[in-house]
Amino acid sequence: MPTEAQRDAFERLVEARAGGMPVAYLLGRRAFWSLDLAVTPAVLIPRPETELLVELALERLPENATSAVADLGTGSGAIALALAHERPRARVRATDFSMDALAVARSNARRLGLANVEFTHGDWCDALGDARFDLIVSNPPYIAAGDPHLSRGDLRHEPMSALASGADGLDAIRTIVAAAPSHLLPGGWLLIEHGWDQAAQVRDLLKRAGLRGSRSARDVGGHERVTFAQI
Ligand SMILES: C[S@@+](CC[C@H](N)C(=O)[O-])C[C@H]1O[C@@H](n2cnc3c(N)ncnc32)[C@H](O)[C@@H]1O
Repeated sequence: MPTEAQRDAFERLVEARAGGMPVAYLLGRRAFWSLDLAVTPAVLIPRPETELLVELALERLPENATSAVADLGTGSGAIALALAHERPRARVRATDFSMDALAVARSNARRLGLANVEFTHGDWCDALGDARFDLIVSNPPYIAAGDPHLSRGDLRHEPMSALASGADGLDAIRTIVAAAPSHLLPGGWLLIEHGWDQAAQVRDLLKRAGLRGSRSARDVGGHERVTFAQI
C-alpha cells in the first residue's frame, strides 16, 4: 500500500500533468541518443528529430581524430554530450546564453563522466572567442514568434528563448550562419536543425555566407530538418 505522502506526491504529479506539464519535466529525465539526461524547465526537452543532427555530425567526425566541435545553444547538453560520448577523443565546446541551461548541461556531463566537453556562456558565436572548429552544430530556436503552437500543449512550459526566433523564426539561424564561417577550420562543417518548411531558406543563407555543397537531410517523417555545408 502506498503511504499518504506517496499518494499526495502522485496526486500532485497527476494534477501537474493535467495542467499540461510535460512528463519529462515531471520525471526530471529524458532519454536522448544512448544517454539518460536530466532536464528542468530551464531547458528544451531534447527531441528524437535532433538525433538526425547527431547522426549527420558523427558521419563527419572521424572515429579516432581529435576533432574540435562546437554545439551552439546546448540546452540540456543533448547534442554536445552525445557527440562527446561517441567521439571520446574529440574536444567539444557547448555554449548557451542561459546560465540555468548551462548548469543543467554541466551537471549532465559530470554525471555521465564526459570530461571532453567544456561549457561557455554567451551569445551564439560570440561565446567561441577566436577559436576555430572542424564542425559547428546547432539546434537553435526556429519557430516564428506569432506561431499559435507556442501557446498550446507542452510547448507552453518550455523556455520561449529555446523555441521562438523572430517574425519568420529564422533570426537565430541568420545570426549563426553569418558568424560561423570565421569559426571554421579549412574544410569544416556547419550543421543546423530547422523547421520542416525552412530548408530552402537555410540552404540559401549557407550559400550566401560562402559555404559550399549546401544540402538538407530528411527526418523519419520525410521532412527536410537539417541543413549542412562546408567551408
Ligand atoms: C531549441 S533549444 C536546443 C537545445 C539543445 N541543443 C537540444 O537540441 O535539445 C535552443 C537553445 O538555444 C539557446 N539560445 C537561445 N538564444 C541564444 C543565444 N542568443 N545565444 C546562445 N544560445 C541561445 C536556448 O537557451 C536553448 O538552450
